[in-house]
Amino acid sequence: MRQLLPAFLLLTSVITCSAQSNSPTSIIPAPVNVVPGDGMITLTTSSSITVAQPELKDEAEFLRDGLKSINGLRPMLLSASGDAKNTIGLSITKSDNPHTEGYTLAIGKERIDIIGDDEAGVFHGIESLLQMLQFGKQGSASLACMTITDYPRFTWRGMHLDVARHFFPVDFVKRYIDLIARYKMNVFHWHLTDDQGWRIEIKKYPKLTSIGAWRSGSEYGPYSDRTFDSTRYGGFYTQEQIRDVVNYAALRHVTIVPEIEMPGHCLAAIAAYPELSCTGGPFEVAKGWGVFDDVYCTKDSVFDFIENVLTEVMGLFPGSYIHVGGDECPHVRWKTCARCQAVMKKEGLKDEGELQSYFVQRIEKFVNSKGRKIIGWDEILEGGLAPNAAVMSWRGTKGGVAAAKQKHDVVMTPGSHCYFDHYQGDPAVEPLAIGGFTTVQKTYSYEPVPAELDSAETQYILGAQGNLWTEYITTPEHAEYMALPRMIALAEVLWSPKSARNETDFIRRLELDFANLDAMDIHYSKSLYNVGYKLAGSKKRGQVNVGISAGGTQGGIRYTIDGSEPTEASPQFVSTVEQRANATISAALFRGSKKMGNTTSIALNFDKATGRSITVDPQPSEKYGAGGAFTLVDGVSAGPRRVNNEWLGWTSPQITITVDLGAEQTLTHLGIGALEERYSWIHPPKQVLIATSADGRTFNEVATVKNSPDAAGRIEFAADAPITARY
Ligand code: ACM
Ligand code: ZN
Repeated sequence: MRQLLPAFLLLTSVITCSAQSNSPTSIIPAPVNVVPGDGMITLTTSSSITVAQPELKDEAEFLRDGLKSINGLRPMLLSASGDAKNTIGLSITKSDNPHTEGYTLAIGKERIDIIGDDEAGVFHGIESLLQMLQFGKQGSASLACMTITDYPRFTWRGMHLDVARHFFPVDFVKRYIDLIARYKMNVFHWHLTDDQGWRIEIKKYPKLTSIGAWRSGSEYGPYSDRTFDSTRYGGFYTQEQIRDVVNYAALRHVTIVPEIEMPGHCLAAIAAYPELSCTGGPFEVAKGWGVFDDVYCTKDSVFDFIENVLTEVMGLFPGSYIHVGGDECPHVRWKTCARCQAVMKKEGLKDEGELQSYFVQRIEKFVNSKGRKIIGWDEILEGGLAPNAAVMSWRGTKGGVAAAKQKHDVVMTPGSHCYFDHYQGDPAVEPLAIGGFTTVQKTYSYEPVPAELDSAETQYILGAQGNLWTEYITTPEHAEYMALPRMIALAEVLWSPKSARNETDFIRRLELDFANLDAMDIHYSKSLYNVGYKLAGSKKRGQVNVGISAGGTQGGIRYTIDGSEPTEASPQFVSTVEQRANATISAALFRGSKKMGNTTSIALNFDKATGRSITVDPQPSEKYGAGGAFTLVDGVSAGPRRVNNEWLGWTSPQITITVDLGAEQTLTHLGIGALEERYSWIHPPKQVLIATSADGRTFNEVATVKNSPDAAGRIEFAADAPITARY
């Protein structure tokens, strides 16, 4: 416990002025209700903090530290309450309509009051107050008078961090918890074990960390390259460090949910104790990413091991939930393991799916017997859900819907909106990521309650969380960059009333907050400001209409078409750039002379099909629909890192693409671009049948090409003699 150091005397003078502010607040997440008042209050070096109940001492200290770091204020902490002036009063008083974690923040001309429905409510009120202050005004802080009434929409407002693929030191974990608390999130899901490292000291099994926390190298580069270095890599948290982090989080009203993966994703554990596997090993802690066949065996000694591990884990983490993983567990070893097959026979289990369910249910019984609950990834639904388990829906929303319909608690974390390891801007200008494409606006648009649920089922949706898997995130700075600002968007989704959702106002407040993040030296992505391109056909065939857009509330887009770097003096984008010939368009958002994001470019290369009328049948799958059929003739060649912008994808066995060249043309080469990303389940066509037509009705087969894509990603056909055709 830190010492209280009363450094200033309490004076009662408050500087007030008559300025009135009706401006909405800068707070993120947006509060439930704000009633503007008259006038201002200025906190000075003589201001104090008064604490009505002794249990609010930690909150008072947190507020004092915050005021000091933002404005250099060091108020005394006083235990008197009442009507003292020039003070920030903290108290717990249940309001007429109390809400768990709710608070009222009343900023008057003479004093500020933060009245919580509970301790967490007071803490959230403090976070609101600190967010309204501006860094750098040393010795004073002025605030417009207002009354804020606020409480959360959801009870689970989480952020996850994978420390197994890459290890993050305690200092960073605390900084991450600070961010969680800053935006009124309240759960930190700490992914502590996986194939690539065991990161939590377990006294009974020292080899988990002496062996399991270290690997002999790491994968780097795009997954398709499968490249590895040979640098020993690892680290783990001692139990003392874990206790320190748990206390740190508790002071910020953040509950830590530890995840101990089972029955799969456990190579690090079985590398340390191979007798826990089906085959006996030997194994190495994984250097690369992915899913591995070697998992825990289902024999009794494995349950003894896991129960002993969980006993130590539950001794460290006081929260009600223990995350037991459950995702991505291959069954191949179980199929040929005599012990696993014997368990299935003895327990009357019809397949390995039921064996996995047996595994999780047996662990649940143990965890429940200690007064705790389990939560697992949505695979735990398969083969039968454990009776009291909560489900984390990650493979879309189906698992969450199924669990809620079975009256089980659910945390939503679908990859589409909540996986912050995805690209958040044009992959061409972003650091290498695992894939995907989830902008801050997309996360902000997320609605955690699936439409399929009725109102009784909706109550099982505890909330949602953002996941930060770290295969491609090696440093704290990069982790912050990937988390922010998407976690800020998710925080608002989870706290603020659904009816208050307003992207424009969110971005206005986010831009104000960027200045705070800069002052705190926190890294975040400005990809919001990067321009995006939308290419469309024109009635004037053979033309490509280029639309350019960027996020942010002010500024203009400047662009060039000769590939040169745009400046504030370049033409301003107004509506459409019409192109009929090769060009490299480069654009960026400017505020005055300040370039707000990165310059992004597209190269338009015209061939005989570019800008022409095109049909595809069937339509591409929703996930890989990009800009529709026109994408194939927009003049932009797709690259392997632009999976979501420039490629179309189908799940159908056959597709027909028809291009109208506008008039008869002489053709010598025909071809398409095709992507092979085996590990993302993306495959090129097995064969391409080329046919031409004069009238669009009768087609003549020209060739069937069975080649794989060449180095440039092309499947090409060169005609022996020129072909004349319109289609
Ligand atoms: C997961 O992303 N494998 C839960
Ligand atoms: Zn086995």
